[in-house]
Amino acid sequence: MLYSDKVMEHFANPRNVGELADADGIGEVGNAKCGDIMKMYIKVDNGIITDCKFKTFGCGAAIATSSVSTELIIGKTIDEALKISNKEVIATLDGLPAQKLHCSVLAEQAVKSAVSDYYKRQGVDPYPIVGDIQKCTGDAGCG
Ligand code: FES
Repeated sequence: MLYSDKVMEHFANPRNVGELADADGIGEVGNAKCGDIMKMYIKVDNGIITDCKFKTFGCGAAIATSSVSTELIIGKTIDEALKISNKEVIATLDGLPAQKLHCSVLAEQAVKSAVSDYYKRQGVDPYPIVGDIQKCTGDAGCG
């Protein structure tokens, strides 16, 4: 079996799909190689991510990794959410096939992009906090 039961389950029943009309931060990232796009919406209250939704025009692994990412970051502080790496997302999904690892990077970058947007809206420069948002061009190990 190429995909774990957890990946299949999140693909079949993705959590937190949609948009947040009153989002405090909206992130959008794309992978230039496969053309997939992911959009992530976060609601922040007192430094805690209280809600998160996503939309993706992406592959099954992109759907599963973003679904898990939303579950991992809801209820966390922004700092904690930024520390969640794509490796943790992969581990939570009981692994991903090698050729699908970059899809988890897209999910990680979508979270970072949403947090960046949140800081910009607060008038705070996100760069020192969030760092680079990797452009998934394929040559950064993510394509
Ligand atoms: Fe593009 Fe998975 S193949 S994100």
